[in-house]
Formats: sequence, C-alpha cells, structure tokens
Amino acid sequence: MAKGKIDTELVMSRLRDVNDPELNRSIVELGMVEKIEAKRGRLIIKIKLTISGCPLKNRIQNDIEKAVSDIPRIEEVKIEFSTMTDEERKNLTKQLKGKDPSESFAKKNVRNVILVASGKGGVGKSTVTINLAAAAARKGFKVGVLDADIYGFSIPRMMGAQGKPTVIDNTIIPLESHGIKIISMGFFIDETESVIWRGPLVHKAVTQFLSDVYWDNLDYLFIDLPPGTGDVALSVANTVRGVNCILVTTPQPGAYMVASRIGQLVDKFDIKMLGVVENMSYFLAPDGNKEYIFGIGGGTELSERMNIPLLGRIPLETAIREGGALGQPVALSDNCTPASEEFRKIAEKVIAATG
Ligand SMILES: Nc1ncnc2c1ncn2[C@@H]1O[C@H](COP(=O)(O)OP(=O)(O)OP(=O)(O)O)[C@@H](O)[C@H]1O
Ligand SMILES: [Mg+2]
Repeated sequence: MAKGKIDTELVMSRLRDVNDPELNRSIVELGMVEKIEAKRGRLIIKIKLTISGCPLKNRIQNDIEKAVSDIPRIEEVKIEFSTMTDEERKNLTKQLKGKDPSESFAKKNVRNVILVASGKGGVGKSTVTINLAAAAARKGFKVGVLDADIYGFSIPRMMGAQGKPTVIDNTIIPLESHGIKIISMGFFIDETESVIWRGPLVHKAVTQFLSDVYWDNLDYLFIDLPPGTGDVALSVANTVRGVNCILVTTPQPGAYMVASRIGQLVDKFDIKMLGVVENMSYFLAPDGNKEYIFGIGGGTELSERMNIPLLGRIPLETAIREGGALGQPVALSDNCTPASEEFRKIAEKVIAATG
C-alpha cells in the first residue's frame, strides 16, 4: 500500500462485518457493496439497496460509518446509495434460498414447527402461541410466529408488531417484535396493490408463508392455527416435515368431539402431538382459593382421550388479557405471575420433547 492512502482492503474487510438489518447477513456477502473508492482522505462507498426506499437505509449508513471510523487516513466518508436491478435481486434471493431453491424456507430453515390448535374458537390459542413463543425466546432460542389465522388474525396486535414486511423478489422478510420474527396476513390486508395475496385460498396463503418467508435459522416456529379447521394443519404438514402440535382447550368437559377430529388428522399425517394446554383453568381469588369459573377437567379429559400429556393449566389473569392488548406477552415480563410461570414451564416441556 502506498504511503498516505486509505487501505481499501481494510475497508472491505470492515464492511464484511456490517449486516443488512433485515436479512441478517453481511452486505458484502449479499452483493450490496458496489464500489469502494479512495481519493486522498475521502472514502466513497457505493451501496446497492435491495429495494428502493429501503426503510433501513439510515441504519445501514450509520453501521458503515461506525465500521470504518477508526481506519487511518479517512477524513471524510461518503456513502452513495442506488437500488439493485431485478436481475441482482433474483441473484440475491437465489443465494438466500441456497442449494435447492424449490424447497420452502420453513423446511430448510426451521428446526421445529409447533402447531397450536383447538377444536373451537376463543379458547386462547393465540394467547398460548405468543406466550410459548415468548418463553422460548426468553430462554435464548431463535423463535418465529406464523399467524395462520388468515381471516381472524390477531398476532400483530398481541405481539405489538406493526408495519409492512419488505418483499424482495417474492421473498418476504418477516417483521420482528421482542426479538421474535412474525408474519401475519394482518401486515398485508389493507393494501390495495397486494404483492403476496395471490387469491382467496387460505391454503395458498399459508403455503406461501411457509415457503416464501425468509425464516432465518429458527429453532422454533409457532403456528397459530385458525379455530377448528383441519385444512390449514394439513397444508402445513404437507409443506414441512416433523410437525408438532399442541392442543388448547378450556376446562369444560366434552372434549371428545375435539379429540376425534384431531385424532383423524394425526392418523393421516405425520404430526407429533406434544400435549394439551388447559387455558382459563381457574381464577386465583385474593384469599388464595382457586375458583373454577369455567368448570373442571376438560384438559385431563382431552389428554386421556388422546393419550398425550397434559402440559399445564393456565389460570385466568387480567395481565394475560392486558398483555395481549398491549402487545406485551406476559411470559416476557420479569414480573412472575402464576400464569407466566406456567407458560415458562410448558415451554420447557415443549423444548424437552422436541430438540
Ligand atoms: N388465561 C387467560 N386469562 C385472561 N384472559 C385470557 C386468557 N386466555 C385468553 N385470554 C383472553 O381471551 C381472549 C381470547 O383469547 P385468544 O384470542 O388467545 O383466543 P383464540 O383461541 O386465539 O381465539 P380465536 O379463536 O378468535 O382465534 C383474548 O382477549 C385474550 O386476551
Ligand atoms: Mg386466535
């Protein structure tokens, strides 16, 4: 290197450590660094953004400036942005897809899929989904939540996730909240010009969420199923391998209907039933007594009929409903309540039963 010049190789090696914030990969590896020029003390870096008007442009700029800040002889850093061509975007998504581009992201990049199902609506499926996801994330696992309740989605609100996911050449980048990757129809539904909604079929939407969403090496993908239906579970079982399932029920007896419906599903497809979560099991009265508002025994009955474990009983708690309304799952909070503790215990059982 000639004396007095900026070491552009050193600049390049520093840029290798700068990640695209959405894709979590090096901007060099992704082909986003177009050119590095050094003119005396002036460093010009040309960056190609994946999409025009990339919302994270400022973050990329700051990260680059920080990464090169201590390189000798730099007096000024200028970062020039342009946008990738369609061809370049195709190459990038090919790279993300890896060796076999026909395989879904979920199949390749998710270690464990957990379906959260119930025989009927309103039993707390979404609540159980977000809190088990939160408890697993709290333990350091990489976690995602797929809201497969296409018409009645509630995950965005319950997780406090807002915005519109970036779409790069048909690859959808999930949003993130509390460190958990999230995808839901709710992120797309109010769009007049819809990029991913290719038809009214739920199967198609769910399959697309599994195949085209960039699930980047997740330990657990929790899938909140719509109430009662088996078809979405079937779509999932057909698209990914090694699917696990948790059943959510309330304490009312009469679970045999659910058991027979779910039982048929398990027989037909390769779904591993992990167990039953009984929700709204009791209310802990101020005097310490448990009040069984919705009856008793539903969880035990379902687990016995299905011959699977009862993973736990979640009490009725105002904090659960409030946490859902505020986008703050109780299982994330440092404040321990009987419910948040029970969610964590159930998550541990789920983790032990999977891998
Ligand atoms: N253990 C609980 N204590 C207090 N509130 C709860 C509890 N479980 C769920 N809720 C509340 O009950 C309502 C219904 O729960 P949730 O949305 O999770 O049910 P769901 O089974 O997903 O419903 P749907 O069938 O409509 O998708 C929500 O307002 C939620 O906050
Ligand atoms: Mg729900």
